[in-house]
Amino acid sequence: MKVCRSIGEIKSFVRSAKSSGNTIGLVPTMGYFHQGHLSLMRLARQECQIVVVSLFVNPTQFGPGEDLLDYPRDFERDIDMASQEGVDIIFAPEPGEMYPSGYQTYIEVGEITTPLCGRSRPGHFRGVATIVNKLLNLVEPDRAYFGQKDAQQVMVIKQMVRDLNMNVKIVNAPIVREDDGLAMSSRNVYLSTAERKAATILSRSLQGAEQAVNNGETDALTLRKQITEKIGSESLADVDYVEILSIPDLEPIQVLNGQVLIALAVRFGKTRLIDNAIVEV
Ligand code: PAJ
Repeated sequence: MKVCRSIGEIKSFVRSAKSSGNTIGLVPTMGYFHQGHLSLMRLARQECQIVVVSLFVNPTQFGPGEDLLDYPRDFERDIDMASQEGVDIIFAPEPGEMYPSGYQTYIEVGEITTPLCGRSRPGHFRGVATIVNKLLNLVEPDRAYFGQKDAQQVMVIKQMVRDLNMNVKIVNAPIVREDDGLAMSSRNVYLSTAERKAATILSRSLQGAEQAVNNGETDALTLRKQITEKIGSESLADVDYVEILSIPDLEPIQVLNGQVLIALAVRFGKTRLIDNAIVEV
């Protein structure tokens, strides 16, 4: 597996891969790999001839006071893990390579970025859309892989690709969970032992909601109340949002109908975790 740090190197790698007629799959990441990341690499490995993984903790998607400086990093371990998945090349640029001095262009995706994490983290999706756009321009993949864990993120990227007529298929892969249901996340390492235990309340409350929907509950307010109360029973949990929104427009709904996204963000001390489920009525 090749590791490359510069835009010049990744461009020349892509040029030669394409000139040999290979299909390219891109997995954008911020590193500190877990099974969620690896599942995307595996899928890309199955579907594409060349697999490119980008590893870049993107400063523009972190707000002031967020965890940019503390974000977990372990480059050597990441390299080992990616290489075991048969990744062809890791693109791991320094911030100055992606945002040199004088940089001034950003992508603003519209309404779909206003609820959920867009509301709690102003500017977050502007940073995500900008870096993903740059990575797609550099790697020119046939397919790019994103996890359902970040449900709004994948919808924002799909919207951008559609609106800007970009020539790439966005592939959405299921959420990978720990045995006790906690969605895997690089940020789970921030949790204390007690918080880690308490954090299962996210998946447990989503399961409860899915069960209620299967039993015929279609009132969004009732479901939200049930979920919020269940999370509230966990003293270490502090709800950021519990939302039930339409798919694909992410608009608030009163009565569940068709495909619906149930999305949660909950704080445990300094750590903010997200999780979601798609239910169909
Ligand atoms: P990061 O948090 O490193 O996640 C990289 C990819 O892994 C994302 O598509 C994310 O949805 C997916 N992922 C994370 N946890 C997962 C899980 N438990 N199951 C399945 N997939 C999971 O998301 C980002 O980085 C950044 O915003 C990025 C897109 C790279 C732009 O900087």
